[in-house]
Amino acid sequence: MKELKNKYQKHMLICTHKRDPKIKECCFDKGAAELRKQLKEKMKTEGLSHKYKVIATSCLGHCERGIAAYVYPDKSVYLEIKNTQEDLRLLNNLFD
Ligand code: FES
Repeated sequence: MKELKNKYQKHMLICTHKRDPKIKECCFDKGAAELRKQLKEKMKTEGLSHKYKVIATSCLGHCERGIAAYVYPDKSVYLEIKNTQEDLRLLNNLFD
């Protein structure tokens, strides 16, 4: 095993999991993939991509309360995120 220093100050894991809505609701159907794309574009535009990483992840276990996101090293969990400009702005504020 080899250990490397992590170059990112924060990671945001956004659930973009997609599943058959007949089985259970999912974050993908609530616009999670588009929200992640917008966050990544904003980071790139603002020159923050080298400090912060926005990662698509599978189900975080909060499907009914999605869109769900975890932020590390903050150890914060964000639920009921909407794919709106207001929530996009609030999420962006997590990255100084
Ligand atoms: S589908 Fe997103 S938390 Fe389960």
